[in-house]
Amino acid sequence: MVKKTLIKLKSWWRNLQNKNNFIMKFVIALLLLGIGFRILVSRSNDFSDDSGDPLIINDVGSSSLSPVSSDAHKKNASFKVGLSSIPPPVSSNVPKKMSHISPTAAIEVESEGKCNIFAGDWVPSLDGPAYTNDTCNIIESHQNCMTNGRPDSAFLYWKWRPRDCELPQLDPGRFLESMRNKNFALIGDSISRNHVQSLLCILSKVEQAVQIYHDEEWKSRKWIFPSYNFTVSVMWSPFLADAAIYEDINGVSTHEIELQLDKLDKNWTSQYQSHDYVIFSSGKWYIKSAIYYENNTEIGCHACSNRNCTELGFDVAYRKVLNQVFDHIIASNHKGMTFYRTSTPDHFENGEWYNGGFCNRTQPVKEGEFDLNQLNKILHEIELDEFKKASIKASEKGMDFKLFDVTALSLLRPDGHPGAYRFFQPFAKDKNAKIIYDCLHWCLPGPIDSWNDLLMEMVVNNH
Ligand SMILES: *[C@@H]1O[C@H](CO)[C@@H](O)[C@H](O)[C@H]1NC(C)=O
Ligand SMILES: *[C@@H]1O[C@H](CO)[C@@H](O)[C@H](O)[C@H]1NC(C)=O
Ligand SMILES: *[C@@H]1O[C@H](CO)[C@@H](O)[C@H](O)[C@H]1NC(C)=O
Ligand SMILES: *[C@@H]1O[C@H](CO)[C@@H](O)[C@H](O)[C@H]1NC(C)=O
Ligand SMILES: *[C@@H]1O[C@H](CO)[C@@H](O)[C@H](O)[C@H]1NC(C)=O
Ligand SMILES: *[C@@H]1O[C@H](CO)[C@@H](O)[C@H](O)[C@H]1NC(C)=O
Ligand SMILES: *[C@@H]1O[C@H](CO)[C@@H](O)[C@H](O)[C@H]1NC(C)=O
Repeated sequence: MVKKTLIKLKSWWRNLQNKNNFIMKFVIALLLLGIGFRILVSRSNDFSDDSGDPLIINDVGSSSLSPVSSDAHKKNASFKVGLSSIPPPVSSNVPKKMSHISPTAAIEVESEGKCNIFAGDWVPSLDGPAYTNDTCNIIESHQNCMTNGRPDSAFLYWKWRPRDCELPQLDPGRFLESMRNKNFALIGDSISRNHVQSLLCILSKVEQAVQIYHDEEWKSRKWIFPSYNFTVSVMWSPFLADAAIYEDINGVSTHEIELQLDKLDKNWTSQYQSHDYVIFSSGKWYIKSAIYYENNTEIGCHACSNRNCTELGFDVAYRKVLNQVFDHIIASNHKGMTFYRTSTPDHFENGEWYNGGFCNRTQPVKEGEFDLNQLNKILHEIELDEFKKASIKASEKGMDFKLFDVTALSLLRPDGHPGAYRFFQPFAKDKNAKIIYDCLHWCLPGPIDSWNDLLMEMVVNNH
């Protein structure tokens, strides 16, 4: 099987030989990924093992008008999500040296003259988190590190400090006031869900959000802050393009994803205009095994070793779709504010999720200490390239289109993930228990809360 993968990738390799060294190395990364995929597929069942605390999303049975208590969550779970929300493995065997793409390269895109709020350092802070597991009851159980028994809490006492200016903590009262009668949507994958929960928790200090919609699988949801008539939605669209995904709720897939590279997901295009603020993001799901279509015709695939099909490369697919997403945004003449959030790194060390990789650091790292892995670099590079092109067109039309580039600052927080504490008390029965770590999503509270401080700066203070 591995051999077949190699053959598939060969033609793509040949096409790329004229390009630069970086891409050559990327191909190597991809070969390894192809191998990783075999492992992913054959190991997927691990994800359905819920011998720990099940990965509960929410309590379907509860009234949609009142926030669900976290206890109810646990007892009345009717929906579980496997690590399907965790993208497939990124090989750790990728050459480590090619760090010529600085993750902070990002920022030239933004702000001339203005302080770049995405370039800075994590500094110790006595403020502590804006909420806890006791004050916010909508934290998804597998990101609820406090409740699940994560022993260290020092990771909560850091704040992001931009190099050239101050970044205050989000002021929930001011934020909500400025959002009166507005509509806010986050569109993307499970990291968007992670992000929205952080926002709702921070705002809960002033008012509890009331859920007014969820889809059958609880992947798309909507809340309202009644006193402010402020609506927040999260919409599941991991590719942003039209995709058929054949995964069950445990993340076991029965067929490659079928992705229409020339068709955007109508679930969001049909709603885009109705939102005053939209944060898009995508990326990680592109690394998965997929068959690519254009004009309803199969044009290639990625990591599809058991099909007679040309390996196109996930980079090609991501770039094509992102290009169209941005074209759509620009053509829409959307009157509100649109953000593209860059993809965020995982922090598996000594392996990946499927072979014992872990993330148990307890402090941030300094710039340069943790390399952005190759696949994340590629995703980020595509995001920057495409955004640069699009932002020129957007500003010509006077549109408010911004890059929300959290890649670099997130890279410095290997300590911010649930790790083993995605499960409730993972080591209670056996302190040597073998646990699949989550080194991709973020603990709530946790470093992802800073994203909302940045958001406030851009939205309310018009940074
Ligand atoms: C779970 O939800 C159902 C439907 O709303 C309800 O009848 C049942 O009592 C709940 N069970 C628990 C343990 O809360
Ligand atoms: C919050 O976490 C603490 C441990 O940090 C735990 O004792 C407490 O029960 C948790 N609260 C809830 C509501 O889960
Ligand atoms: C709430 O906001 C929406 C726009 O998001 C507006 O159409 C509606 O009239 C507002 N409702 C009230 C009661 O102000
Ligand atoms: C749109 O959303 C619905 C329900 O959430 C889902 O069943 C459908 O697959 C989505 N469509 C696309 C193209 O992703
Ligand atoms: C798409 O397919 C239709 C019918 O097969 C064809 O007429 C059309 O030219 C194709 N469009 C593109 C852009 O390839
Ligand atoms: C794969 O497809 C090519 C071109 O479509 C064809 O020539 C070849 O025979 C196919 N190989 C197999 C094993 O089906
Ligand atoms: C992290 O986990 C590894 C492997 O279990 C262990 O060797 C290491 O000591 C741990 N580090 C910390 C800081 O707990």
